[in-house]
Parts: sequence; C-alpha cells; structure tokens
Amino acid sequence: MKIKAFAPGKIILFGEHTVVYNKPAIAVAINRGVDVTLTSRSDDIVNINVETINYSKKLKLNNGKLVYEYDDSQKQITDYIYEVISLFEYEGGFDLSVDIKMYLGAGLGSSAAVTVSTLKALALYSGNDLSLDEIAKIARSIEIKIQGAASPIDTAMSTYGGIIYIDENSNLNPIDFDMKLPLLVSNCEIAGNTGKLVASVRNKYEKYPEVLEHIFTATANVAIDAKKALEDGNSQKLADLMNINQGLLDAMGVNTAELSDMVYQSRKFGSAGSKLTGSGGGGCIIAYTPDDIDYVYVKLSKLYPTFMCEQSQSGVYAEIIDE
Ligand code: MEV
Repeated sequence: MKIKAFAPGKIILFGEHTVVYNKPAIAVAINRGVDVTLTSRSDDIVNINVETINYSKKLKLNNGKLVYEYDDSQKQITDYIYEVISLFEYEGGFDLSVDIKMYLGAGLGSSAAVTVSTLKALALYSGNDLSLDEIAKIARSIEIKIQGAASPIDTAMSTYGGIIYIDENSNLNPIDFDMKLPLLVSNCEIAGNTGKLVASVRNKYEKYPEVLEHIFTATANVAIDAKKALEDGNSQKLADLMNINQGLLDAMGVNTAELSDMVYQSRKFGSAGSKLTGSGGGGCIIAYTPDDIDYVYVKLSKLYPTFMCEQSQSGVYAEIIDE
C-alpha cells in the first residue's frame, strides 16, 4: 500500500501575535507545503526520512505502537512527526518520507504542514481516517505540546486551505472576495523561534499592559478593516493596512533589522504594502505588489530567496495510489 498526502503552508496577511490574544487575523494558504509518502512494509520497522534536513532513522514497532519520549530540550521538526506516529496502532511497519517543499522555520507554517500531512497519511494507513475538524484539532494540540503556545491558524490553514478570517472567538470564516492578491514572499534565512517570540510579546504585555493593549486593539482594527478592503476590492487600503500592521509588529518587538531592510527594499522597488509574516524574529516578509510584480520579483530575488506566492484553495488531501 502506498499513500501520498499533501498539506499547504500559509502566510498571515494580518494579525500575527495579536491572534494569540483572541484578536482577529487573516491568513492565506499557499501552494507550497509538505508532501508525505508512506509505503507499507512487510516487517515491523518504521523507517523515517526527511531529506530536507538529511534525517533518516529506523525504529521498531512494539505491539503495533511506537513508543516515543518527547525531549523538551531539543525541539525539532521531527518531534511533530513522532508525535503523530505515536497516536496510532499499526498492523505493520512502513517507510515514511516527509518532503518539506517550503522554507523551514520561516513563519510559513512548516511545522503545521508537516504535522497535518503526516497525520492524514498515518490516519489512513492505520484505518482511522479522520475528518478535517479532527485533523485540525489533533494537529493543534500537537503544536501546543511542542511549541508551548499556538493559535489555531497554522494548523487550520494546512487543514482547510483557502483564505480565512479568524474572528475574536477563534471562529474560522472563509473570506469571499474577487480581487487579485499578487504577493511576493522573501526569506531572510534566519529562523525565528515562534514559542520564544510569543513569550517575548507576553513579557512586554505584562510589563506595559496599557501600552500593549492599545497596540493590540489597533492591530485588531487593522484586521477588521482589511477584511472589508478585500471584500470591497480596495487595493490601496489593503496596502496601507499592511504597512500599518508592520509598524505595530515592530512596536511589539518582533521585527528585526533584516526584516526591516527587506520591507523597505520591497517598497522601494514598487510593492504597495509589505510586512513581516508569521512570528517574526527572522523568517519572511510578504510584499503586496499589484503593479509590476515581475520587476519587483527580479529585484528582490537578487537580494533574498523570493517566490511569487499563489494561494491554495485546497487544504490537506491524500490518495491511496497503490493497494
Ligand atoms: C505564527 O505563524 C503566528 C503567531 O501568531 C503564533 C500563532 O498564531 O500561533 C506568532
């Protein structure tokens, strides 16, 4: 039996960090993500390969289960894979190849895409196929266990795909709009640590609650207005709001000198709105570029790894390709 699964990554258009405080946010699933291929074996070996990080390991199932001790001191992308494997009981071993076709640890939701695609493949293999809601819920609990704090954004986007407005009650509402969203994503190639950055914003909030409260409220208003801008097709407003959101993220302390350079370079080359995306501290910026995107792409990609970001309407999916 062979199973192939894919789950997309995401970008956050508006509202990273404040979403952790139940403020609204807007996220977009992208057409880059994680492919998982599972091939059954006739023995009880679990053979895991993650080529992107040169990781390869063979382990033995014990009565159909993989017993795995999570080591809190060294968080790695493979932790998410082991957490998923240890959820199920198997009749036999398998080869599991996890192909991360996106920037890793760059704020694009790679850990969620790894978790969700692995979960989909292993649920099918173990005969416990899960609904999308179950996948989103289990994947989120794994993110919380490994990362410490996590909003439902990353795991929801990898699971459901599309463009989603997360409201104050953490409800996920698909946004219906016609306007094009030409975006570039550039990577500063320094990894940000989401758990630490979320904690650093909390520290700042505890130290200066009145100040941060206003910054959070302003960011919430940006996300609310941005939803309207998308629905109304108001390109200028969308760009302005991205630039305002960037300033507010800077005030929260999650911007860096490198990200700032990238944001200003992209605006200089012609992007209308640009901001960091995800947890910051490194990772990526997104640059909304409704005019001359090819020109800005050439300019930016000479300086930083950059891609033109297409949206993914579909979330996680899997197929059994060989019985
Ligand atoms: C990370 O992609 C986005 C944060 O808001 C954290 C989260 O939502 O889990 C920083």
